Amino acid sequence: MPFDIARTRAAYPALTEGFVHFDGAGGTQTAAGVIDAVADAMRAAVGNRSAANVAGRRSLELVAEARSAVADLLGADPAGVVLGPSATALTYTLARTLGATWRPGDEVVVSRLDHDANVRPWVQAAEAAGATVRWAEVDRHTGELPAAQYADLVGERTRLVAVTAGSNAIGTMPDVPAIAKIAHAVGALVHVDGVHSVPHGPTDLTSLGADMLVTSAYKWSGPHLAAMVADPARWAALRPAKLVPSSDAVPDRFEYGTPSFPLLAGVTAAVDHLAGLDPDAVGDRRARLRAGLAAAQAHEEALLDRLLGGLAERPAITVYGSPARRCPTVSFRVAGMSPAATQEALGAAGFCLSVGDYYAYEYFQMMGLRDSGGAVRASIYHYNTADEVDRLLGELDALTGGTGRMAG
Ligand SMILES: Cc1ncc(COP(=O)(O)O)c(C=O)c1O
Repeated sequence: MPFDIARTRAAYPALTEGFVHFDGAGGTQTAAGVIDAVADAMRAAVGNRSAANVAGRRSLELVAEARSAVADLLGADPAGVVLGPSATALTYTLARTLGATWRPGDEVVVSRLDHDANVRPWVQAAEAAGATVRWAEVDRHTGELPAAQYADLVGERTRLVAVTAGSNAIGTMPDVPAIAKIAHAVGALVHVDGVHSVPHGPTDLTSLGADMLVTSAYKWSGPHLAAMVADPARWAALRPAKLVPSSDAVPDRFEYGTPSFPLLAGVTAAVDHLAGLDPDAVGDRRARLRAGLAAAQAHEEALLDRLLGGLAERPAITVYGSPARRCPTVSFRVAGMSPAATQEALGAAGFCLSVGDYYAYEYFQMMGLRDSGGAVRASIYHYNTADEVDRLLGELDALTGGTGRMAG
């Protein structure tokens, strides 16, 4: 059955404001079920976690339900789901914890494709430990992160390989299973940034070969919270810095302070929303998630093809990268206009797009684009439509005086 875009859009109250949101990579709009779940949890009697009373039991349940939902989303064990405020904060926690076990001469591999949240925490942890950082490079023309280079980058002293499953800048989806295979052959851990990839298709921790993976719920219709997952046995072997009286259990010991219980209700509701994207899907939540996200992926890919095809016809537009496997995310510049001016002009016409380096610092630095304003990013999410893509192309024509389009 074709993706029911009208039904999907009706689930997002903010879309009634009429803006065109090509900014999901910076945070999607929130699904109605999420808003209701957060409000319900805030209206209900919820106390701090305790088995002794109803209010305390509710918060215990909200945490357990969020762990179980994220586990379904990623193919993980609920007992291995660490919840936290953001992917950046969780990655820093892990980097500090793992870094404390590294010795001078150990090695860490990061990539120039990654968001800085999957670079700097590792670089800084390596510096603190006297470990060496090695860099995986991006092909500046295609935007690919070739997996083969990892054979030269990893060795006996490699402790960790950090890599993205999807670039938030140009969409590239590296061959993470191949990279993980190379890393695992020398006993290195693989940390995967799934923040940009998870909203755009089914994710399976095991088939990715990820030892640890982070994702942020605000990129998939949920609230501003994040999760980091691994096999609980992996967490059991690690000792993060923690308060003396806080729980030493796994995964709780990686979580700092009192959780936002209402927002955790929103995380669960966001996963349930994704599981409902294909109304005909049957089976348990994980099966429905696979079906719903696969349906959304097919819809997003059709829009991506339409956008890329349209941009390619317009010589005034330069698109960065042409990776073979990609998330529906496109960075571009308009000839003769700064990215910020393009963003502003599009904003005035009701189009929401991001601009700059979007914290994909190393990529834009490598491309020599950072100091001149980075690029403009159109990121497609499942609530976007073909009409919105066409309107964006039309608006770009208006910006270039209608001269942007190739004749014929
Ligand atoms: C690919 C990627 N990784 C990590 C992050 C950081 O996520 P958070 O805002 O949850 O720290 C982002 C945010 O844009 C991202 O796009």
